[in-house]
Amino acid sequence: MTTPLRELEWPDLADIGALDEQLFGQDAWSARSWWAELAGRPRRRYTVATQGERIVGYGGIDCAGATADVMTIGVDPAAQGAGVGRALLAHLLRQAREAGAEALLLEVRADNDRARNLYLRAGFEHIQTRRNYYRPDNVDAHILRADLKVTA
Ligand SMILES: CC(C)(COP(=O)(O)OP(=O)(O)OC[C@H]1O[C@@H](n2cnc3c(N)ncnc32)[C@H](O)[C@@H]1OP(=O)(O)O)[C@@H](O)C(=O)NCCC(=O)NCCS
Repeated sequence: MTTPLRELEWPDLADIGALDEQLFGQDAWSARSWWAELAGRPRRRYTVATQGERIVGYGGIDCAGATADVMTIGVDPAAQGAGVGRALLAHLLRQAREAGAEALLLEVRADNDRARNLYLRAGFEHIQTRRNYYRPDNVDAHILRADLKVTA
């Protein structure tokens, strides 16, 4: 089943903020940060996945020059495991390539198996570890890179 995707718009921010808080707890972005991210277009590009009227996922990239970065990606727990994350990530990869980037980078907690699997299966490679990066629990950060010249 294909996942409908569209650009994130201002009226979506309340829903996105609530979903972000559900997924990331105290690490969720503030409303102010979300406004700043959306105001950062076109360098920042945010996409939402929908089921009917409902937003079930979101993701965004920063495109500046040869290297683009994944800013965030998340899927409503009720919609996880059904390919929404994969569809969003494939879209972000496409957008980064279309913007002229040669690589897409991201950072993920070493203990986030779901996200790591998603990225590795999409062609990302682990290129660096930042030891004890995430506080207060001292979890490593893995830096992953997708080569946009080879990743489909
Ligand atoms: C990571 C996340 C975005 C994945 O979204 P999703 O819609 O559940 O993922 P998909 O259903 O598209 O699955 C894509 C891949 O993720 C991996 N995955 C999904 N569910 C998984 C699970 N329960 N256990 C392990 N890997 C899993 C698999 O590799 C899967 O590919 P496959 O189906 O070909 O095996 C989602 O789990 C999420 O929002 N997590 C909380 C927020 C978060 O951690 N974001 C990333 C921060 S870096």
